[in-house]
Amino acid sequence: MFAATVAVTSTASAGTTLGTSAAEQGRYFGAAVAANKLSDATYVGILNREFNMVTPENEMKWDATEPSQGQFTYTNADRIVSHAQTNGMRVRGHALTWHSQQPGWAQNISGSALRQAMVNHITQVVTHYRGKIYAWDVVNEAFADGGSGGRRDSNLQRTGNDWIEVAFRTARAADPGARLCYNDYNTDGQNAKSNAVYAVVQDFKARGVPIDCVGFQSHFNTASPVPGDYQANLQRFANLGVDVQITELDIEGSGTTQADNYGRVVRACLAVSRCTGITVWGIRDTDSWRASGTPLLFDGSGNKKPRTPRSSTP
Ligand code: G3I
Repeated sequence: MFAATVAVTSTASAGTTLGTSAAEQGRYFGAAVAANKLSDATYVGILNREFNMVTPENEMKWDATEPSQGQFTYTNADRIVSHAQTNGMRVRGHALTWHSQQPGWAQNISGSALRQAMVNHITQVVTHYRGKIYAWDVVNEAFADGGSGGRRDSNLQRTGNDWIEVAFRTARAADPGARLCYNDYNTDGQNAKSNAVYAVVQDFKARGVPIDCVGFQSHFNTASPVPGDYQANLQRFANLGVDVQITELDIEGSGTTQADNYGRVVRACLAVSRCTGITVWGIRDTDSWRASGTPLLFDGSGNKKPRTPRSSTP
């Protein structure tokens, strides 16, 4: 009886941060982290208190890790990984291949030279971090916006339609222990773009191409609100036999509306057993790539935003 009381009490008191609350549900709560902010005491204080997963915001991208062909620079990414390890946080690696933030040399090659460079890049980076990464965004944003349901035109796409499959197989060979994810935006609800991603995941599962998870970036604002079928969309992907993760969450706004929208996203993830965690794309509003939209969970001073705004009436 006493033991049960203690267990309940300690469980209740444990869930006072985002990370511990998520852990109680068998999930993680992460944040995108910038290496140059790890010397900011307020930033690090919130990070260490609240989060148990980190995603390097820019430091693992191709332009950062291989600025010259064949010469790899891991200093900033290593700082983040080391901070995570010291503080018991896991790491989502982001992103091995993307049409954006490629180094100039990669933008200037094509065909088999680019394909070979992509394979070498994935092999080198994944090998460097082998055993340290919970999940890799192996391919980021490879599908076109709009109703076409087609691939995004990019230099990588022009190396051949099999480039996504090759990227996943290469990553698996370099670190069999890391979960391998496809990550995209505007795929949060059911639409032509998410249908196209769904078809690829279905095909990969059928043919044994290694894929373990799908990331839903979830950048929301008035023009792109939390979709009504968000949970249903997460669930249909989970039903294919992959984990689903909310990977870059931010919701522009303030007050009750913003808090309610965050609540909807969290409840959707909790309702899908294979939704393994949520990552917000920054810590304080001022850390956001969209700072003017005040889209994050902590204000510019580092204060946690209220679950619901304080009422002006008693
Ligand atoms: O580091 C340089 C700095 O030296 C220079 O003085 C400054 C001048 O503009 O630029 C700095 O680089 C910027 C970098 O962020 C670091 O702050 C780049 O210009 C800027 O383009 C880059 O933006 C990043 C953006 O991806 C690039 O597309 C954002 O921080 C990052 O949050 C954002 O993240 C992406 C995800 O990776 C994929 N999904 C969408 C998301 C938002 O675009």
